Amino acid sequence: MKLLEGKVVLVTGAARGIGKSIAIACANAGAAVAFTDIARDDNFVALENELKSIGVKAMGFVSNAADLNSSSQTVDEVVAEFERIDVLVNNAGITRDTLLMRMTEEQWDLVINVNLKSVFNLTKAVQKTMLKQRSGSIINMSSVVGVSGNAGQANYSASKAGIIGFTKSMARELGPRNIRCNAIAPGFIETEMTKAIPEEARKEWAEKIPLKRAGQPEDVANLVIFLGSDMSSYISGQVINVCGAMLT
Ligand code: NAI
Repeated sequence: MKLLEGKVVLVTGAARGIGKSIAIACANAGAAVAFTDIARDDNFVALENELKSIGVKAMGFVSNAADLNSSSQTVDEVVAEFERIDVLVNNAGITRDTLLMRMTEEQWDLVINVNLKSVFNLTKAVQKTMLKQRSGSIINMSSVVGVSGNAGQANYSASKAGIIGFTKSMARELGPRNIRCNAIAPGFIETEMTKAIPEEARKEWAEKIPLKRAGQPEDVANLVIFLGSDMSSYISGQVINVCGAMLT
């Protein structure tokens, strides 16, 4: 029996990076997978095909996680198609890094809306279904910098810290209905997002990590499988780092 057999997973921002790896890992664990991203580009279509080739039901939805109407419409479509949602992975996220002195209001608002408001949007939209089912696991992608803060990332760190407060609140609010909510705090994971960091700086970072390497998207996806499965049925309200002991 595979760990997510019989479950329906919805992952946001999954066309590439960590989200893609999560979608594939969930499919390999036996789940039916619905995913979203902002546009139906080559990555989007390739993922849809890859998931189907694994042999599970899979479908991509073009949806802006930062927009409440778009999110609730997508969740309605997912429920119409898949009949239930057992696991929601709020993964969509962006960076607009710069020092506060140079940070524009637009850069602040955009990062807060895509990273934090999206978690409100999707969780609000799926809660109806999960309440009816009397079960569910919500997994929110925070970051180690949401715990520690980071120079040049005030907007991003604030959004990721906000996710932690939201996660703990949902664990308390929805726990009595058997809905769990946890956050994952990845450290330095090799994706398109971190490719934006200059090579020298990336090497320097990796050197400082006790496990002496950057993490891979699969390192994060493995935790999602655990938190989405019934193996973690007594784990809720937690922030779990996947960071090679970078933040201890
Ligand atoms: P990525 O940039 O490679 O992928 C993010 C995906 O989200 C893209 O496919 C993008 O199109 C999508 N997306 C962006 N805005 C969206 C929106 N409004 N609606 C729907 N989809 C949208 O990033 P990566 O590295 O895979 O990051 C995934 C998550 O993990 C993010 O929340 C990020 O903040 C978080 N994270 C990443 C770390 C890293 O080192 N890569 C470390 C800590 C957290």
